[in-house]
Parts: sequence; C-alpha cells; structure tokens
Amino acid sequence: MDFRSVPTRGRTLDYAAGVYDILEPWVMFGREHHINQQVVEALEIKEWHRILDVGCGTGVVTQLISRHLDAEKGGMALGVDAAGKMIQGAVEKRQGPACSFRTAAAEDLPFENESFDSVVSTLFFHHIQMDLKIRAFDEAFRVLKPGGHLVVSDMHIPETFLGALIAHASRWLLFQPQIGENIRGVLPDVIAGAGFTPPRLVKTYLGYITLFISGKPGEKPGGLQS
Ligand SMILES: C[S@@+](CC[C@H](N)C(=O)[O-])C[C@H]1O[C@@H](n2cnc3c(N)ncnc32)[C@H](O)[C@@H]1O
Repeated sequence: MDFRSVPTRGRTLDYAAGVYDILEPWVMFGREHHINQQVVEALEIKEWHRILDVGCGTGVVTQLISRHLDAEKGGMALGVDAAGKMIQGAVEKRQGPACSFRTAAAEDLPFENESFDSVVSTLFFHHIQMDLKIRAFDEAFRVLKPGGHLVVSDMHIPETFLGALIAHASRWLLFQPQIGENIRGVLPDVIAGAGFTPPRLVKTYLGYITLFISGKPGEKPGGLQS
C-alpha cells in the first residue's frame, strides 16, 4: 500500500501521527467519543452505505461508522487523509472488512461522481485555508449521491468563554489562520455555496465545535425526497 503523503497546502499531521490518539482525548477533555457517536447518529447509516470520511486522521470515526456497515452488502467506510503517516496508522490499527483508508487530498478527491451515500468530516476543515475549504466542499458535493448526507463537526463561532479561549488560543499558538476563518463562522456559507442544502447547526460541543448536518439536494436512493 502507498503511504506517501499527498501534496497539499493544508496543514497535515504526519509529524503527530504517532501521538495523535494519545493527545486527542486530552485536547477534547474526554468528550471525543460522545461527539463522534453523535456524528455517527447524524449519518442515519444503512448497512449497505458507502461513506467517505474526509481528513480522517488515524481513522477513529471511520472505524466507528464501519461498525454499522455490512461489507457483504456493499457497505464501506473509506477514510482519506493527505498525511501518509496518519493513513499508515489508521490501516495498522483500524482497517477491517468494511473499513479502509487511502491517502488523498480533500480538495482533489480521486473518486467518481456520486459514488458515496454520505460524506463526513470531523475536525478537519480548520486545517485548510479558505480556497481549499471551497474546493474540498465542491469535491464532497461532486462525489456525494443526490439525497446523500453531509455531516461536519468542526470549529465554528465560539459560544462560551471557555470555547472562545480555546479557539483563539489554538489559532494564535498554532499559528493557524485557517482556524481564524472557522471562528469567524465561514463554514455554513461555504457548505451552502457548494450546492448543499443550508446546513443545520445541531449542537455545539465544548463551546466551539459545532455539528452541522446538510445534504445534497435530490432523490434519495430509496426513492424519498431529501
Ligand atoms: C485534527 S485532524 C482530524 C482527524 C480526524 N478526523 C479526527 O476527528 O480525529 C486533521 C487531519 O486533516 C489532515 N489534512 C490536512 N490537510 C488535508 C487535506 N488537504 N486533505 C486531506 N487531509 C488533510 C491532517 O493530516 C489531519 O490528519
């Protein structure tokens, strides 16, 4: 398998791959599993779904999703990340019959049009700047089937003092202007601008991470209207 990183102007985490799973629970105050569970619920998964996890990191969410899928019925959770070392860690720890991974940049997805039932992304969009955010949501729209779900959980306008403190400290201490864009609240407009239905802001966690649910207009595979 090819674990070479894919060139991108996004902030990739090759250097953190070995410690990411250890550090994440600390950074998320132990709330990551609860948040990820709600992300999975929002996807309304059927066991035959093909679900793309964009900026999957070490594949925790991809694996959670895969537990609801049946590979024999065509179900597959596919995680992509531009960092080869993250993908290598994901493959080693979490690959399974309905769970796979590959390197790819979110702004240039190597997949056919309308080839996924849902697209999900957690804590990824604050790693790429505005032009790449736009391209990545355009790509998510392209690969999603009409009627499919888009579920995004990411940094957004802080709602509490603690949330604002964490978000602004991350922006400045990590020298990450992409976080500043999220804090200013750009995500809903970029999502809608790509053609998705206006995103519903379902819930905010830790005062600065918001769960958005949206979708691609059109007829669902089962024949229902979105
Ligand atoms: C904070 S991690 C989130 C990982 C995972 N989704 C989670 O919730 O734990 C952000 C990930 O985005 C990846 N990344 C950065 N730029 C990227 C791009 N342009 N395309 C795909 N992945 C990218 C990084 O390598 C990193 O693994």
